[in-house]
Amino acid sequence: MISSLYKKIVGTSPPPEPDVPKILCVGVNCLDIVTVCKEFPLEDSEQRCLEQRWQRGGNASNTCTVLSLLGSSCEFLGSLSSDQHVIFLEDDMRKHKIDFSHCPIIDGVGCPMSTVILSIATGSRTILHFNPNLPELLLKDFEKLNLEDYSWIHFEGRNVSEVICMMQYVESYNNSLNTCQSDDSVKLETNRIPITISVELEKPKPELVDLLPYADVAFIARDFAHSKGFDNMSETLRNIGEEAKSGATIICAWSEWGAMGRTPDSMIVQSPSFPPNQIIDTLGAGDTFNAATLYYLNMVKTSFIKKREEEESHKTKETFEESSETDKKREIKQNTNIESTECSRTEFINANVLQGAINFACHVAGAKIGLRGYDGLE
Ligand code: ADP
Ligand code: FRU
Repeated sequence: MISSLYKKIVGTSPPPEPDVPKILCVGVNCLDIVTVCKEFPLEDSEQRCLEQRWQRGGNASNTCTVLSLLGSSCEFLGSLSSDQHVIFLEDDMRKHKIDFSHCPIIDGVGCPMSTVILSIATGSRTILHFNPNLPELLLKDFEKLNLEDYSWIHFEGRNVSEVICMMQYVESYNNSLNTCQSDDSVKLETNRIPITISVELEKPKPELVDLLPYADVAFIARDFAHSKGFDNMSETLRNIGEEAKSGATIICAWSEWGAMGRTPDSMIVQSPSFPPNQIIDTLGAGDTFNAATLYYLNMVKTSFIKKREEEESHKTKETFEESSETDKKREIKQNTNIESTECSRTEFINANVLQGAINFACHVAGAKIGLRGYDGLE
């Protein structure tokens, strides 16, 4: 389903998996106990439900599911409780080809869980979430990663002070790509891709804005926007733009109203929603939208960098032939040192690209809400 959608919107088939570098999603993994009801229950009533199932949930975890179904190689990073539910969660990640090899496993604290009520009558999803204070991921867990493995890192907005440290850690990795190129190591260093950092602000917690100055791409969900007093997407983009770092891309999805985005040079783009014939399951629509946007942008980033490398190597070759031996090393360094990592991690996002991304993401999110769970999107 997705491959044909991608073809329709982008005009080419998605590239095969190994060409696209890995996306890491950092956040929560929980157990969703999903109950499907004809209609939302009255308090203190009894009703026979249509279905009840267990599902792996959590924003970063759901985003990984969709990324993987789209064909992107991806990894989930977050604390996992060692209680009996971890078997279900890990099996499901294996089934969906999601790498979780760097997750710290915590003993003695239970797994976060949500009771979710899906109403067939209205399409609503009501989430009752419980977290028995499973310790959050720490910078020391994050430092165990080999950052060369990733082209994009997406953070759930939570655990603000620690997540800021992780974002700064990625930032200094990106800066090291510009500064540590000695003449001898130049080839090795330029093979490393600057990592694009994205963040999702979803929960209605004011302190989440502190994450914005560190993100290249920010997803602003409706719940968070409402908590700041914003009533629609344009108002959200206009106001949040002031708190983001300069040149950030901001994206806002708003259920049946679709989505809107602001490019690094402040152009506004918009997509309608694409509802299915029948709304079956809106749980994780936002996580699906985010995944499809990340997938699309990471794909464009990959081809942008590849094209740039080809041009650079062509230029280098020409200069090489004309230069004296003593100038050669300096020439390589000047030509291959991508002007700044800041550029190559967001420079590819122009109005056309962002328009394509949110359009694709609204198509995928629309397809998802017509399905039970996520399987069937691929
Ligand atoms: P969530 O409630 O999970 O945060 P959002 O409201 O942010 O999800 O919606 C994400 C995307 O999913 C929207 O941009 C839209 O494309 C699609 N979507 C969600 N709900 C609907 C709906 N009722 N009708 C059509 N599309 C929807
Ligand atoms: C959906 C979701 C559920 C989870 C809850 C956590 O976006 O990730 O899977 O129960 O939100 O807040």
